[in-house]
Amino acid sequence: MEETNHIYPIFDRMLNRNDKETLLKQHSVMIWFTGLSGSGKSTIAIALERELQQRGLLCRILDGDNIRSGINNNLGFSAEDRVENIRRIAEVGKLFVDTGIITIAAFISPNNELRKMASQIIGEENFMEIYVSTPIEECERRDVKGLYAKARKGEIKNFTGISAPFEAPAHPALSLDTSKLSVKESIDQLLALILPKVSL
Ligand code: ADX
Repeated sequence: MEETNHIYPIFDRMLNRNDKETLLKQHSVMIWFTGLSGSGKSTIAIALERELQQRGLLCRILDGDNIRSGINNNLGFSAEDRVENIRRIAEVGKLFVDTGIITIAAFISPNNELRKMASQIIGEENFMEIYVSTPIEECERRDVKGLYAKARKGEIKNFTGISAPFEAPAHPALSLDTSKLSVKESIDQLLALILPKVSL
């Protein structure tokens, strides 16, 4: 017998998402930021969390560098590892969404297939895709972590936008180009989209 045949989930006896949302007085959702390294995903995620918290709304940020130094510290940047990276993040994200928490994910998630997998794990009705569309020229000019320079010199392989592909989402709920918008302008657009969805 397979080990998995001896697993008996107890979800039916546990308090459910609705119970948690009632306790927290909010609806949960996954706000999924996609975009190049240095596009501003983390900056916007952090500013958004603060704005939502100020309004009494509980959030949890899941961020590339944090997750990759913890639960995903055995994964690299091959196509297969990026799939496993996003799969685990989506499963963890689903736990937060099921706990009634507004979950903010900031990962490059460089193609439609990866983002579709995430939305299917989390549930399409819970998934808001936000494209941080800052052009690569601007991301490279900022080069906050010095990684673009290393990628250009060939010191980092498979670097998204330089030596690995990035596929822009076709129908994001919102696109934010941080070379044109201030953080405040981006947050205002996000709040207009999110507040109606998370308010009870
Ligand atoms: S994803 O493609 O698998 O979604 P993720 O968002 O988790 O990527 O991690 C991206 C971060 O890892 C980048 O912001 C950067 O700091 C770092 N990084 C290191 N190597 C690479 C690489 N080859 N390509 C992209 N990002 C990399």
